[in-house]
Amino acid sequence: MNPKHKGREIICLCNNVPRDVIEEAIRNGCDTLNKIFDATTAGVGPCGGSCRRKLQPMLDSFQQTGTFPEVIKKDNRGKRR
Ligand code: FES
Repeated sequence: MNPKHKGREIICLCNNVPRDVIEEAIRNGCDTLNKIFDATTAGVGPCGGSCRRKLQPMLDSFQQTGTFPEVIKKDNRGKRR
């Protein structure tokens, strides 16, 4: 693990992208999964995007409430079809 990310919740294990980096990207205007992929590299790793099950709920939560959930509940909406 990148020592810079020690103690931070890693959302994308493939590309070692922590939660706060994703939250910042969303706050700064990433309003689609594709924009999050481009801004953070989360969601486009070799596993095929299993972390998208967390990215989509984070995005939805921010768009609906302006905040992020304390605990992210995975779902399948962001999954590749
Ligand atoms: S965990 Fe994010 S792309 Fe694999």
